[in-house]
Amino acid sequence: MISRETIDEVMNRVDIVDVISDFVTLKRSGQNYKALSPFNNEKTPSFFVVPSKGIFKDFSSGKGGNAINFVMEHEGMSYPEAIRFLAKKYGVEIKEEAVSAEVEEQQSEREGLYILMGFARDFYRQSLWETEEGKSIGLSYFRERGFNDRTIEKFELGYALEGWTHLMDEAVGKSYNPDLLLKAGLVVKNDEGRMYDRFRGRVIFPVHNLSGKVIAFGARMLGKDKNQPKYINSPETEIYHKSDALYGLFQGRNAVRQKDNCFLVEGYTDVISMHQADVENVVASSGTALTEAQIKLIRRFTENVTVLFDGDAAGVRAALRGIDMILKGGLNVKVVLLPDEEDPDSYSRKVGTTKFHEFLATHAQDFISFKAGLYSAEAGHDPIKKAESIKEIVGSIALIPDPVKRSVYIQETSQQLKIGEPVLLTELNKLLVQERKRKEREREGAETVRQVDESAQLAEQLSVPAAGAIAVKDMIYYQERETIRLLLNYAEHALEDQKLAEFLMHELEDVPFTNASFGEIYHLFRSRLQEGQITDSHYLMENGSEEVRKIVTELITPRYAISPHWKEKYEIHYPEEPEILHDLALTNVLRLKFRVVQGMMEDNLLKIREAEKAGQWENVEKHLEQQEGLKRAERELASYLGIVVAK
Ligand code: CTP
Ligand code: MN
Repeated sequence: MISRETIDEVMNRVDIVDVISDFVTLKRSGQNYKALSPFNNEKTPSFFVVPSKGIFKDFSSGKGGNAINFVMEHEGMSYPEAIRFLAKKYGVEIKEEAVSAEVEEQQSEREGLYILMGFARDFYRQSLWETEEGKSIGLSYFRERGFNDRTIEKFELGYALEGWTHLMDEAVGKSYNPDLLLKAGLVVKNDEGRMYDRFRGRVIFPVHNLSGKVIAFGARMLGKDKNQPKYINSPETEIYHKSDALYGLFQGRNAVRQKDNCFLVEGYTDVISMHQADVENVVASSGTALTEAQIKLIRRFTENVTVLFDGDAAGVRAALRGIDMILKGGLNVKVVLLPDEEDPDSYSRKVGTTKFHEFLATHAQDFISFKAGLYSAEAGHDPIKKAESIKEIVGSIALIPDPVKRSVYIQETSQQLKIGEPVLLTELNKLLVQERKRKEREREGAETVRQVDESAQLAEQLSVPAAGAIAVKDMIYYQERETIRLLLNYAEHALEDQKLAEFLMHELEDVPFTNASFGEIYHLFRSRLQEGQITDSHYLMENGSEEVRKIVTELITPRYAISPHWKEKYEIHYPEEPEILHDLALTNVLRLKFRVVQGMMEDNLLKIREAEKAGQWENVEKHLEQQEGLKRAERELASYLGIVVAK
């Protein structure tokens, strides 16, 4: 266990801005700093660092704390791992105290795996540079591919000798535990229990994590044996999760940050050749579509991705789906289509550094317009195909989280394809509402059997708001309306020991209505109730304003309460409303409060931004604190409602 003394020493030395800057691009904002949340996809910054207090707060995810907490959250480290990490960064010597056997074992296993992978990397390098076989087969292979010695060293490339147990023998000779060799995936055990090296007679590409430690290997065969896989890769291990790693990010991270752009290619050799052509801001997805975790990883360094496509049409089609994922992750995507039959590796070598740079600069094209061009060319004048291609393109636009960007794309696509904006917008809104419904169902799950999907209904009623998802304000509107509907229909119904009207009046005492007419009705009910009078729809129909009469008519029409459409579609049985009035009233109250709190959070976030702009730091702090209080309230209400909100 790390001693208290060491922890204190680390705490004394850390500078939270310095620590976080290693992972997030912070923008100065008066005495504080802000950035896009590294924990969530967002378009406006809600991640704040307050150096005077040594803390960070991330309002999009609710995470917050000191530098150690940040490293833990961001790097997925345990507390001791984070302390060690920071101790190393600040040159603090770690003093240990005795630890429990179990903890020690776990820590030493990960640690052991890193050490073993480092050993293997060195063994493969040595085999490449210093053995006859390595030099004549491995090294000459790399050189034939045009890799120079500096590049080979930079990527720590190696060679695995022919033969069954070279690595294993060397490792066991150096007292490495054979079990650990298996766990690291360096050695394989067959059915008879015999152990042998996983990688044999192949060139080796080590995969690094962000701190430069080797976590896996890719091993390429030499020659063209059709009966063998071209690459054999390390399996998933305690320290290697394929879906979280990106090849080349360790070597390219600084360039990515500086250029504020990341090239995305398919393979190890593409990354390496591009480095040799002086394009260092490049990563490889290892032949598969990017995962969410990998996209997040890129977002730590830049928001811009440029995907390089090999120049064959089939490949492009297959790759388009993968790009949708990147759009959804909130990154800006460009594409470069390479000439026929070329990949980044072959083409950069063919034309040389200068021409390659020029090519990338002149051929980078926005992804949406690229896709629009591709599909419309294919569709030609065939109306059905044309309609399908519009759906395809709008489908991609709908994935972009930022509504402003979406509407710009709609405009541009409209011009490019010579299709009216309204057509595209209608399609877009349809998709957005569908997605919204899907999410809502997912979030609220089976618990909401009797609850009508509010966003779907609302969207129908409002005949779909213009480009954009449904705002909190609209949710509040709906919930206020539901309150009034319950009052109008069931004011006198008994809920356990009180009437529904009394219950609502009591619960919503300090909740202001945003809609004037709903507010008017509510207050009328309330003041009359205080005088012991009952208000019903008849009274309102006779005494209310025109607007009030309209609302009342609408809300007492039973058709509104239960949508047969929903019943059919989801085969849900709706109990009659009076049977479930207690739950209905309670849920309504909670939901209204929930939405109101969310609305307050939105307003408050705006105030934070304004105060920041104006340099009013005391106000910033004040609102930051209020925001935390609201977040707590939101979470509490959500937990009553069984809704999951971001921590
Ligand atoms: N890949 C893999 N296993 C395979 C084939 C491919 O893991 N059997 C991954 C590797 O990460 C590879 C990437 O997919 O780098 C791209 O595949 P490919 O283009 O076939 O390989 P290159 O690395 O480009 O190899 P080369 O240029 O030598 O053919
Ligand atoms: Mn290739």
